[in-house]
Amino acid sequence: MGKKGGLAPHTFAALGGSGRKVTRGRLLAFLLVGFGIGLALGFIFMGTMHAFIEIGTKTHHGQQPIVAKDAASAAAQQQQQQQQQQQQQQQQSAEKEVEPQKAAAGWPTKGDTVHIAYTSNGSPYTNFQNLIMHGTYQLAKKQPGGDKMVAFTRILHRTTDDALSSKLDTFRANPLHPECDGWCDYPVADRPNAVRQFLQAAKADPSLIKAPWLYMIETDFVFVKPIQAPLAESSAKSVAFPYGYIQPTYPTIEGVMRKLYPAERGPLSDIPNTGCSPTLMRIDEWQLVTPVWESVTAKIERDEEIKKALEWVREMYAFSVACALEKVPLEMREPPESITMIQPPADHRLGKAHLMHYTWGSIFNAPNGTKVWEFDKRFYTEPKHEKTLPKLSLPPPFEEGWKLQDGVAITKDLYDTLVLMISTMNAGIDLMKAQGLVEEP
Ligand SMILES: *[C@@H]1O[C@H](CO)[C@@H](O)[C@H](O)[C@H]1NC(C)=O
Repeated sequence: MGKKGGLAPHTFAALGGSGRKVTRGRLLAFLLVGFGIGLALGFIFMGTMHAFIEIGTKTHHGQQPIVAKDAASAAAQQQQQQQQQQQQQQQQSAEKEVEPQKAAAGWPTKGDTVHIAYTSNGSPYTNFQNLIMHGTYQLAKKQPGGDKMVAFTRILHRTTDDALSSKLDTFRANPLHPECDGWCDYPVADRPNAVRQFLQAAKADPSLIKAPWLYMIETDFVFVKPIQAPLAESSAKSVAFPYGYIQPTYPTIEGVMRKLYPAERGPLSDIPNTGCSPTLMRIDEWQLVTPVWESVTAKIERDEEIKKALEWVREMYAFSVACALEKVPLEMREPPESITMIQPPADHRLGKAHLMHYTWGSIFNAPNGTKVWEFDKRFYTEPKHEKTLPKLSLPPPFEEGWKLQDGVAITKDLYDTLVLMISTMNAGIDLMKAQGLVEEP
């Protein structure tokens, strides 16, 4: 595949995915055409930009050094905390003495409960998705096993609170790029830094973390079931999602990958093809990986060659490189074996997953070319969408012969999967309205 729309050939080819090159490649090509048309309409352009970035890329324009004073006071607090913990431990049972180091951190290290977190800049676009996701999370919590999901934290990287701060459990991180409160090229630019701020705060106040597993997700996810985690104290690997378009061993990017992962570290195949979400890791693994993820991100942003080669998926690469540098073993299975998510319409069946990710839109076309139905998150970017949370329309009853925007036949499985996704989102919308989380119900 050649250069198209200013994309590096690697990225364009890579976005085709490994297992499903044709489907995802076509979907992307379709999006690129849509992108061109969207140029005529400012808000669509903006939405599409956001969407592209959501597909996988975040940028990070530079790193702010940790302010020495803050670091010192955090360290002092941490030390004090640890001293208190140690004193408590000495008075407590022998069971705790088995793992004095971990217990000293103060957050849970055992069991199969999960603390869910995600980052957001508080824009109407992410808040619309955020409210729906929160509704579907609450519905999943009521299902068998849902009680294992014990906390749900929004990490808001923004200079001020937003409309949802008083309604959802929110940790506000100071953004590296205050301009992203409004509009910026890469609205998720500050993610690694924001996650680090959260984890750093948890070192001072371990009660911020409620479970041994931290599961990082994104706002455009739909819970159809609860996540099932293994016991954190078992030897089970942490779980990440294998992205077809993240290809650390791709020949044309070898040079830039070696700047991030030098030869003495090992082969480039050490680097998992993943990103920070959906990623289920133990808290200590997040504590290990996140500062490295942040510094690799900063290194990329300082280097035009790497930025150009890795395009908008560079922050995913940064996370993947950080996992390799810190040698965190990850279990990564593609749908339908993935226990985390599927991405309809590229994936037709839920399989073992519990989440659906609506990064790509879906258009159903009748054999004569008439559009039968359409859903796309890029239609919901305005403040009114966040305020009113409109219900989503379901497709008409299934008929054989329909095709997706990329020409792929719509199977009954895919139809049922999308109906389940939209119905679950609508149930989540109803719940958010019933709970008064929507400004104008
Ligand atoms: C195309 O097909 C759709 C769905 O079967 C039908 O409703 C519509 O009338 C058809 N349009 C034309 C122009 O034939």
